[in-house]
Amino acid sequence: MSQGAPVGVKSGGYKRIVYVICAVAALGGLLFGLDQGFIANSLETIQQHYQFGVQGGEHFSAILATGGIIGALLSGLFARFLGRKRSLLLAGFIFTSASAFSAMLPPLPVLSACRFALGFGVGIASFVVPLYLAETAPASIRGSMGTLFQLMITIGIFLISLTNVFIARAFVNPATSLPLMFLTITLFAALMFFGGFMLPESPRWLMLKGRKEQSIAVLRRTLNTQQEIDSEIEEIEQALHGPQGAGIGIVRRGYFFKVLVVGVLLQVFQQLVGINMMIYYSPTIFGYAGMKGLVAAMTVPTVNMLFTFPAIHLVEKWGRKKLLYLGAVTMLITMIAAGVAFRAIGSVTSPAMISGVPKTVLLVSVILYIFGFAVSWGPVVWLVCSEIFPLEGREVGMTITTMVNWTFAGLVMANALSFMQAHGNASIFYVFAGFCVLAVAFVALFVPETKGITLEEMEFNLKNGVRLRDLGKRDASSMFKKNAAG
Ligand code: BGC
Repeated sequence: MSQGAPVGVKSGGYKRIVYVICAVAALGGLLFGLDQGFIANSLETIQQHYQFGVQGGEHFSAILATGGIIGALLSGLFARFLGRKRSLLLAGFIFTSASAFSAMLPPLPVLSACRFALGFGVGIASFVVPLYLAETAPASIRGSMGTLFQLMITIGIFLISLTNVFIARAFVNPATSLPLMFLTITLFAALMFFGGFMLPESPRWLMLKGRKEQSIAVLRRTLNTQQEIDSEIEEIEQALHGPQGAGIGIVRRGYFFKVLVVGVLLQVFQQLVGINMMIYYSPTIFGYAGMKGLVAAMTVPTVNMLFTFPAIHLVEKWGRKKLLYLGAVTMLITMIAAGVAFRAIGSVTSPAMISGVPKTVLLVSVILYIFGFAVSWGPVVWLVCSEIFPLEGREVGMTITTMVNWTFAGLVMANALSFMQAHGNASIFYVFAGFCVLAVAFVALFVPETKGITLEEMEFNLKNGVRLRDLGKRDASSMFKKNAAG
């Protein structure tokens, strides 16, 4: 509905602009996934065209993470000074131009710069998209929008794996297939960029800049009734009078530092259980075991996407910690099984000589491993990181934890294959299994269960010295309320 239209329309249904908001934001998540999933089924083609080996491939892959770290670092500043909409447009522009440039198959340094730029765009989008949604989508759909973002990442990984595998089969000449692979990303990026112009600016950011009239005009476009508009404005005004976003100095406050360590270690373990070795290199790893074709190319992205769906319900039904245990234990067992399978395969040079049993064990282990991650550590870590920080430090906390995620993702991407070459194919699976053990201990000792408690209650607990793993307990909060009252 256009601006100035009667506002007393039926509540419950959403205006068309709300669907545009969700679709463009979904594209932001999709592009994250498209860039993250790009390498798996294109690495061979890139290596053929640009003539580099295993280490060159690893370094090229990891450049995305370097861009991601810097994009995440600056995203808070962009969001604050440019506004949310212009930051989204900036990310869309970077995605579109960097992928279009890559499609021209420039010299390797330029292609690497484009991959850095794509990472930079992902870093911005992964911060600004959830923020924009939280501030602009009607309250009743904000929760599901948060999980939609996660789901879109896995759909993006799946989609690009599928299109790349088919393009590589249809056009064997890398000079033809590689541009088509990059153009697939360009297509979705352009949709996000041009779609972005239709978006309204975030009403909260407008209020932050003292532009109340414009903020009301946006709310008229997204909400149905005057009552909804009034209460939204009141809520924003109250929030603006509350604690404002603190600077980086907040890390020196003891209570903040404690939860920061929890968020940082969650992200470290999310990466050190080895997920991106699988997301990036599973076709290569299956290749070492003599497995090629669609199974090698599509197993990981398919299982990863399918099991993110149940996670959305389970995270509310079972809670975060149960899922983290389930995931870590599943990944522990399956990593050991995959290591044993590779040991049995040994250093066989001819794929035809590899027997069916270790191959089957490897395949089943990888499927269960990805199930273990997708249903737990994938979505839960991001969720918990968005919940544990007190309001005034949420921006700082999420920026730091996102940067840590990319740093360790880059570390895995840049070293996994050469580690296998240097220490034997089985070795890296045991290393990741070791991190799964540490992850279980860490969750048991330090991670709070954040299901079913409000963020404010948790903040109260935190500031009253409740120990980390009890932060999400209601009674801990009331005990402290009593103490504070007495
Ligand atoms: C992780 C990414 C990973 C993706 C796989 C995300 O939660 O942060 O590093 O590639 O899950 O689905």
